[in-house]
Amino acid sequence: MSTTPLTPSLTKAKTVTAPQIQASKGGEKISCMTAYDYSSGIIADGAGMDLVLVGDSLAMVVLGHEDTLSVTMDEMLHHVRATARGVERALLVADMPFMSFSTVDIALHNAGRFISEGRAKAVKLEGGEAVVPQIEAIVTAGIPVVAHIGLTPQHVARFGGFKAQGKSAEAAKALIADAQAVEAAGAFALVLEAIPVEVAQLITDAVDIPTIGIGAGNVTDGQILVYHDVLGMFDRFTPKFVRTYAELGKDARNALEQYGRDVRTGRFPGDKNTFYMPEDQLPQVRKIKVKKKK
Ligand code: KIV
Repeated sequence: MSTTPLTPSLTKAKTVTAPQIQASKGGEKISCMTAYDYSSGIIADGAGMDLVLVGDSLAMVVLGHEDTLSVTMDEMLHHVRATARGVERALLVADMPFMSFSTVDIALHNAGRFISEGRAKAVKLEGGEAVVPQIEAIVTAGIPVVAHIGLTPQHVARFGGFKAQGKSAEAAKALIADAQAVEAAGAFALVLEAIPVEVAQLITDAVDIPTIGIGAGNVTDGQILVYHDVLGMFDRFTPKFVRTYAELGKDARNALEQYGRDVRTGRFPGDKNTFYMPEDQLPQVRKIKVKKKK
């Protein structure tokens, strides 16, 4: 007798869809990563990520802003389009930037742009009960939504900095209420950022949609990190929840220093990097007389 696993494995999916992510709750953990352009999209997708998010974190790690508040819809779209060209298998999610979902109409318009102009397959937006009308409207329009609660960086001014959230019983209860509200509104997954693991466990148990943690411990249904943090390409600050798997920033700098030395000392370009005239042209080329123009 063959037994069908209750939770289908995402790793077998040829292309990952929002319903597949939703159905994988409680099964194999969902691996997610941010990416911001064609080449990072190819790398994240090729590495087997199930979900690739063009996060508004690009404001900081790509555009050099202090926080995520100043990235615009048009800038996000530019990066979503580029990333979409590199992502074939993973579910591509576009992050709605600050004030791009301030009303239901604005949210619908901008979520639609991410799908039709950006070729994203879903959108993510920050907030709990307060953004339920926006989530309902976007989902009703046929666009899958990932919600995001806990340390929502677009609320950094209200939080007084990038600080872990949900650290009292009262705050934990509010987060659980937020999680259940966005689930009821139709979100198919929920990012939990920078909250105590105990609260992440309560929320993961309280909803039927998968939770995707970033700084929420090892109890969520999946994990997401920022590409530049994982690869050691952003050293302005590294949150406690990051694990760095490579030092590409240092490697890139060393490589460019070596290139600079080779240029200055004439070791670059070498023979292998040089084009030469075909043999049969050389005699005529040698006869060319060059006169400097005065
Ligand atoms: O913008 C982003 O990269 C995010 C993830 C960290 C979840 O929202």
